[in-house]
Amino acid sequence: MRILSWLSGFAAVVFVVSAALGQDDLVAQGREVYMGRCEYCHGPGPQKGGTMTLQLRYQGAVPGVLAERTNLTPEYIRAVVRTATPGMTPIRITEVSEQDLEAVIAYLTRYNEP
Ligand code: HEC
Repeated sequence: MRILSWLSGFAAVVFVVSAALGQDDLVAQGREVYMGRCEYCHGPGPQKGGTMTLQLRYQGAVPGVLAERTNLTPEYIRAVVRTATPGMTPIRITEVSEQDLEAVIAYLTRYNEP
């Protein structure tokens, strides 16, 4: 009996550790997608349309660079990416798959308060 409870405790630890690793992988994948699909408008530096627009909008209240934000929710990111906004054309599922979008969301919310 004791060995059984030890085993199930061990299994729980393995499960938690692998879930945490899974999240790190997703964030790393999301960073790749972001670099290829979002960075040229949302990266740091001049001539980045997204960053410039967001800097003007928020006047320094939050960072202009999307990847430095900590207040974007998954629902909001998804809505902006998939529907037209004044400054951003929707990004179709053929351009950024659902799986890639989940990864980008994990990347952009990685520093959010739980
Ligand atoms: C062609 C340029 C361009 C690309 C590519 C682009 N964006 Fe944007 N994005 C903008 C502009 C401009 C704005 C600001 C105006 C607006 O909200 O429509 C914006 C706004 C946003 C906002 C809203 C931020 C806020 O505070 O309201 C989110 C979230 C966002 N983009 C996510 C993304 C993600 C994720 C990607 C990549 C998958 C991406 N964008 C790719 C130009 C772009």
